[in-house]
Amino acid sequence: MALLSTSAAYFRLALSLYMVLSLFTLLFAPAANALAYPPQQPLGEDLAGVQSLFNTLDDLANEADVSYATGPLTRSTPLETQQHLLSALRAMQEEYFVLWMGTWPTSIDWTAAVLGTHVAATLSSFTSSVSELDKAPPEEKSFTALENTINHFFSHTTTFYFGENAFSLRNQAYDDMLWVVLDWLENVKFQDLHSDLHYSSGGSSDNTTGEEWYGTQFRKSAAHRARIFWELASTGWDKTLCNGGMIWNPTLIPYKNAITNELYISASIAMYLYFPGDPIDAPFVATSTSNAPRKENPHNTTHLKAAVDAYAWLKNSNMTGIYGLYADGFHISGWQGSSNPGSQKCDVLNKMVFSYNQGVVLSGLRGLWLATGSKSYLDDGHDLISKILRATGWPQISSNKWAGLGRGGVMEDTCDSHASCSQDGQTFKGIFFHHLTEFCRHLRPQEESFLASKKAPDVDHDWDEVYRQHLKKCRSYGTWIAHNARAALMTRDEKGKFGMWWGLPFNRATVSDELVNSSTLPEGAVDYINDGATVDTKTSGPGVPRDFNDRGRGRTVETQSGGVAVLRALLQWQTSEEAS
Ligand SMILES: *[C@@H]1O[C@H](CO)[C@@H](O)[C@H](O)[C@H]1NC(C)=O
Ligand SMILES: *[C@@H]1O[C@H](CO)[C@@H](O)[C@H](O)[C@H]1NC(C)=O
Ligand SMILES: *[C@@H]1O[C@H](CO)[C@@H](O)[C@H](O)[C@H]1NC(C)=O
Ligand SMILES: *[C@@H]1O[C@H](CO)[C@@H](O)[C@H](O)[C@H]1NC(C)=O
Repeated sequence: MALLSTSAAYFRLALSLYMVLSLFTLLFAPAANALAYPPQQPLGEDLAGVQSLFNTLDDLANEADVSYATGPLTRSTPLETQQHLLSALRAMQEEYFVLWMGTWPTSIDWTAAVLGTHVAATLSSFTSSVSELDKAPPEEKSFTALENTINHFFSHTTTFYFGENAFSLRNQAYDDMLWVVLDWLENVKFQDLHSDLHYSSGGSSDNTTGEEWYGTQFRKSAAHRARIFWELASTGWDKTLCNGGMIWNPTLIPYKNAITNELYISASIAMYLYFPGDPIDAPFVATSTSNAPRKENPHNTTHLKAAVDAYAWLKNSNMTGIYGLYADGFHISGWQGSSNPGSQKCDVLNKMVFSYNQGVVLSGLRGLWLATGSKSYLDDGHDLISKILRATGWPQISSNKWAGLGRGGVMEDTCDSHASCSQDGQTFKGIFFHHLTEFCRHLRPQEESFLASKKAPDVDHDWDEVYRQHLKKCRSYGTWIAHNARAALMTRDEKGKFGMWWGLPFNRATVSDELVNSSTLPEGAVDYINDGATVDTKTSGPGVPRDFNDRGRGRTVETQSGGVAVLRALLQWQTSEEAS
């Protein structure tokens, strides 16, 4: 697309973000009117999938006697979802991000890395969905509006490169380091995608003949940080106990947990697929690779092997608890120190279930499939997802019964209804939805050229069929995602801030202490992340309706990121080319 001819023009325009939004609305107005609810005319062929998504949901709601009539998203079009997503991101950045500090000051180091990941991933969703939504011949103005919006938020991520507490993070736990790797790789992925879709001729990331998007100049810094942190974290792989696996924290009693191992899988395979090489030798652990990162993506087999081995270990470790969901992690019985290491086996399982432990591995499984061509990785992912949906109570959407990871088909962590979530716990559902979305997204130009390259596995004639079946299974999660997105949207306050307890709205008429208290820990589980003991029952005062999402830590940048992630998931499902 011809951006270069318009770039001078859009700088002159100096549109405020508000105007950009109006432009979006204006430009897409014809489509929006035609799709207003109730429909004025039959929906277009390409949106039949969206209609059926919501029809299924409405049927379920009727059956369950749950009214969606007053909720947002009643038959939302992709355009409307895109605007909800933009508002959610805007609220996240305007309410919580401070540009001159280059960070979200109320975040903590690891949650900030996750927030950066959400921003980059959301920009990828915008740049992908505009071409799908705007099927009309590209209009200069629509691209200018998109570009201004994207640059606005991309600038935040570049200041965060300097605002990130990188020096301190180097000395934190291995999972903290790996969130950093995922963040900066997500940033590189967005740079590549935006450039491929709208700038480079040919759209091949391994062979760029055209001019790249200006943002790709930050590829080097992002890649450098990703490499440094991957190398630091990879020292956490330990064979002395449990025959392998990542240790959570080098300074504590050994705990081999799901999150650190899932992160290592997902970060390692993402390094293999997307790391563009790092020409920077500083500061002290560097082995420089390529000087021309973009053209010589190394697809380093060290990273591939790390991911393959880590997943094999995790799968064989039986780190699963109720309903086959990932439990939190393994202790080693009798461990008293390296000279007296006890059983040396992963034999004491903490059966606590957290939403993020069901998510992070999913993006890793998709990457492992891309890199190896082995379908079993996708099968494992879909198997896990079906267990997750069941554990949210889906499809019994009128039920208040706690199902292990939610109720009424809406995902909840145990701490949500109790309002006892810590800052960590408030970040979990957003992480889950980010990785679910990644698992199910379509191939990007960069991945297509990887598959066409010598580095890719031999793609046999079954490959297309496997990919088609994968997308088909993914599409079947659409109604569940829409249901969760709707639930999340209903927790917003007047400033557009999302709350923690998404499961609340569908049970609003029957909220009681009993409901609040009914989310329970699996037997034998320890929730060391959230303070399960303190149940916050604060009300808003006499005669004032209780805002259940104002209890505990209330609405935060972390709960906001959950809203962003679930809307991004919905947008991807609605705009998926094969939606019908
Ligand atoms: C890159 O693309 C150009 C133009 O399509 C082509 O002539 C050239 O052979 C390609 N180079 C490589 C290394 O694939
Ligand atoms: C592959 O990655 C490892 C680990 O970061 C590094 O030591 C090695 O030099 C890399 N190899 C190449 C060819 O870049
Ligand atoms: C996991 O369970 C399977 C089947 O029950 C068993 O064969 C295997 O040895 C277990 N793995 C570990 C590490 O305990
Ligand atoms: C819910 O938990 C709170 C705090 O532990 C307690 O005071 C209250 O009695 C419980 N309510 C029910 C119905 O169990």
